[in-house]
Amino acid sequence: MVRRKPYVFVTRELPGKALERLGEYYEVEVWRKIPPPPREVLLEKAREADALATLLTDKVDKELMDQAPRLRIVAQYAVGYDNIDVAYATQKGIYVTNTPGVLTDSTADLTMALLLAIARRIIEAHEFVKKGEWSRYGTGWHPMLLLGTELRGKTLGIIGMGRIGQAVARRALGFGMRIIYYSRKRLPPEKEEELGGAKYVSLEELLRQSDFVSIHTPLTPQTRYMIGEKELKMMKPTAYIINTARGAVIDTNALVKALKEKWIAGAALDVFEQEPLPEGHPLLELDNVVLAPHIGSATWEARTAMADLVAENLIAFAQGRVPPTLVNPDVLKVRKPGFEEYREDLEE
Ligand code: NAP
Ligand code: GLV
Ligand code: GLV
Repeated sequence: MVRRKPYVFVTRELPGKALERLGEYYEVEVWRKIPPPPREVLLEKAREADALATLLTDKVDKELMDQAPRLRIVAQYAVGYDNIDVAYATQKGIYVTNTPGVLTDSTADLTMALLLAIARRIIEAHEFVKKGEWSRYGTGWHPMLLLGTELRGKTLGIIGMGRIGQAVARRALGFGMRIIYYSRKRLPPEKEEELGGAKYVSLEELLRQSDFVSIHTPLTPQTRYMIGEKELKMMKPTAYIINTARGAVIDTNALVKALKEKWIAGAALDVFEQEPLPEGHPLLELDNVVLAPHIGSATWEARTAMADLVAENLIAFAQGRVPPTLVNPDVLKVRKPGFEEYREDLEE
């Protein structure tokens, strides 16, 4: 087939006008169902594709890239890209982009919502009212009804002090929390100062001291199962863990055990090793959890801005420019940005 424009396969419908903008530069095909394209379909589309716009549910691995001779760019609709073999993409001269920054505030907001929900037992309280238990309770107000934990003066331990980790710290300061953190690198002193004197500690110290632990690292070989039995046992029995990063940073079986046996007080989770969480999963049986279906960036503002950024990355590439949020800058040594054979068309 002779195409006048490069062909991009977009693996799900995106909000806003981004896809329309893409149409000026690309022949756009969008997968419009809720479930992701099945593996065979993704492989088939990739065989033809000059570009892919992917989600974290689409595996872009060696097998796919080896069968995609025309593929030059994979534009991920997410900041995390653990579904993509980036090292292999770089080797093959395939550009990989993501959507950092535009979802930071939304994800930090959700983290605080989960933290507050678990600390103040909001879900239990809601169910109590909704199910009519309050009307049968005998009074409208009781000194011992649904007591939780106050945030002021409590220690929040942030694991992974990047964009989202720092945005969470800024919010928590507003609640009077003390911030400690563990990350790959220590922040410069002025940054720590700006974050209310956030203190850099070891992972073990963080787990031992924190009243709330919140995870904000990417999922990498180093962070997979970073929190297992040993680490959960270091936490205070009154402490809560919040995870809005990736499910596999925590060993789920160990977490279930910790929650059942009350090594810790509770967990608020937006991400899971297996998504969707299957029916009958042991986490669903527990009372000391708050669970959300991976909605960290799920605001109109963030999801629209993410779509715009996917489009900007793809358009920049088509124009022969370096995409603004390139994940693998080393790819520039392998191949220049742009689709050589379509250049004439684009310059018409
Ligand atoms: P970021 O700015 O790159 O921050 C990640 C931080 O983790 C960085 O400070 C990084 O250090 C640190 N880190 C990396 N490896 C580490 C390790 N082995 N040990 C300790 N710290 C480590 O990324 P972000 O924008 O904040 O996003 C963080 C993650 O949140 C994403 O990767 C994604 O998986 C997740 N996320 C989830 C949702 C959701 O819907 N729930 C939404 C958005 C993002 P360096 O700076 O040294 O690399
Ligand atoms: C969502 O989980 C993201 O990584 O953007
Ligand atoms: C509670 O409603 C109070 O007034 O303290």
